[in-house]
Amino acid sequence: MNQYVTGAVIKELREKNKLTQRELAEKLGVSDKTVSKWETGKGYPDITLLEPIAAAFRVSVTELISGNTIQNANVSANMLRSKFYVCPVCGNVIHSMGEADIHCHGVSLSPCEVEPTDENHKIFIERVEDEYYVRIDHSMTKEHYISFMAAASSDEMKVVKLYPEGGAEARFKIRGVKRIFFYCNRDGLFSIDPVKGIDDKEVGYDNVKERRELEKTADKLFG
Ligand SMILES: [Fe+2]
Repeated sequence: MNQYVTGAVIKELREKNKLTQRELAEKLGVSDKTVSKWETGKGYPDITLLEPIAAAFRVSVTELISGNTIQNANVSANMLRSKFYVCPVCGNVIHSMGEADIHCHGVSLSPCEVEPTDENHKIFIERVEDEYYVRIDHSMTKEHYISFMAAASSDEMKVVKLYPEGGAEARFKIRGVKRIFFYCNRDGLFSIDPVKGIDDKEVGYDNVKERRELEKTADKLFG
């Protein structure tokens, strides 16, 4: 990227927009000689003129400075490939449909790597009418807790924020949901595909105590 708009870029964009030097000068309230100076590298437009110049060429200031016209490709939005960025300082959760430069509290955040659920982060998913009742078998102390859960279909994402001392549980409408994510403040991001997960759980479910607890919670929640 250039540090500043160049004469070549101004000339190119002016010609693309079929403007004469005089026409551009009139739009900007400068003389055509000034425009000519910019284009021949004998001077730079004042910074206060960048926005009016960009507007005259119907580009953004960023495009003007970089010299590249950017086509908004409308980033592909398959929610199953969503990225989550979590600030280690404040716990802020940022969901993105593609890669992005994200900073929070002065920290440059990388997208969380997703791992399959493990022994210490077991997920229990139960169908209750048209919802998934999801519970994570995990501590919820201030030091170590599940900070959010999310359910994604190919074009939707529902995020539920969780808090220490609260329950590591959430409910999601089943329709379309193909992946469930949850985030442990110490161990990171996990995901499971619920249909497959529930089938896998048939094996996990011979843990009678877990099952009873889950049923108790489900009773409490759904009567
Ligand atoms: Fe954990």
